[in-house]
Amino acid sequence: MAVQIERIRKDIDFINKFNASPERGITRQTFSKEYQAAVDYVVKELKYIGTEISYCRGGNIKARLPGTDGNAPAVMMGSHLDTVVHGGRFDGVVGVVTALEAARVITEQKIAHRLPIDVVVFAEEEGSRFNWGLLGSSIWTGQLDHSRLENIKDSGGVTYPEATARAGFEVSDESMLEPEKLRAMLEVHIEQGAVLEKKGCRIGLVEAIAGIKHFDITITGRADHAGTTPMDARADALQAAARIIASVEDIAQEIGAHTVATVGRIACEPGQSNVIPGIVRFSLDVRNPDETVLNSAITTINQTVKDICDNRHLGFEITPLGSVQPVSLSGEIVDLMEEKAREKNIRSLRIVSGAGHDTALFAELAAAGMIFVPSANGRSHCPEEFTRLEDIGLGCEVLLSTVTALAA
Ligand code: GLV
Ligand code: MN
Ligand code: MN
Repeated sequence: MAVQIERIRKDIDFINKFNASPERGITRQTFSKEYQAAVDYVVKELKYIGTEISYCRGGNIKARLPGTDGNAPAVMMGSHLDTVVHGGRFDGVVGVVTALEAARVITEQKIAHRLPIDVVVFAEEEGSRFNWGLLGSSIWTGQLDHSRLENIKDSGGVTYPEATARAGFEVSDESMLEPEKLRAMLEVHIEQGAVLEKKGCRIGLVEAIAGIKHFDITITGRADHAGTTPMDARADALQAAARIIASVEDIAQEIGAHTVATVGRIACEPGQSNVIPGIVRFSLDVRNPDETVLNSAITTINQTVKDICDNRHLGFEITPLGSVQPVSLSGEIVDLMEEKAREKNIRSLRIVSGAGHDTALFAELAAAGMIFVPSANGRSHCPEEFTRLEDIGLGCEVLLSTVTALAA
């Protein structure tokens, strides 16, 4: 098959020109002007090859190559274009451009397919603008009710529906993704870890995706004078938060079994050097491929928050945000991708994803599969993120042959 890596290189370079932080990695937040410009580029390329574009529920985009059977369920492929703040050039982008390139080859070579083939771009995968990961796909698959969107806001108080409208995104297809309309969902993604590189494999066949739970935690103490309030008369929210945050690391290490827990954002009020902190808010991200282990880590962390705050007579609130269950992906798709990789003499490896992906939400709707390509030194969510173009090309070839086999 004729995947052209030079076209993929051009797509990646073009998309990454749209960047709000040119001096520090890539920042492309959902519905920002950079995001819209990247989406416009991809939509233009998809229109060029004759796909039918739909602007879908939740801010997602679908480009369809109709199959010969109008009633058949679709094979979807794609990923996201939003990034974390100061992120890299490949997370999400690789899945979009490989799907675009696969669609180009299908049209150029007139590869017959009975099932429709859809290229999809999911919105707000990272949750870096609205603090809610996998947001677009959660709405599209019906896992998050539309009515909750009014309460999902960015740091400036703009709601998700407002941001969607301000970006000029007009939904043309309000329908939800339903199992009977979907045959399969496939996503190529960078590994974001170092397993493939260490084992000398070029392709990862994802068998499972870890579960993720996100929380906002608020500790409420009392703001007071830093010079006149004795040490035993303080209700210092930051001292409690510091102890909780240190315990989060200890708990994850003690539980082990692939548990990871991260506090990545913290804000302290009033944030003055001569005022005792009255309120501290911080994020918590906990992950594990096993739901029981994940839940037990969260129970232990919640109890620790309570114990530390009760001891210091402080208030606290733990607000659950987005979460995804750990999922197993389709064995049928793993087998098929493995066969396709073998036919191309590509060394592949079955692997578990610690990162979250939109495809996890499809595991119960359709046959869901992911193809990983190696990340240099396992780095990701940082400007150093790097994947070789040749490996992205191989990922695209495995995607193309798997999709065309499924859609035949
Ligand atoms: C997304 O990249 C995530 O794993 O949070
Ligand atoms: Mn991603
Ligand atoms: Mn990411």
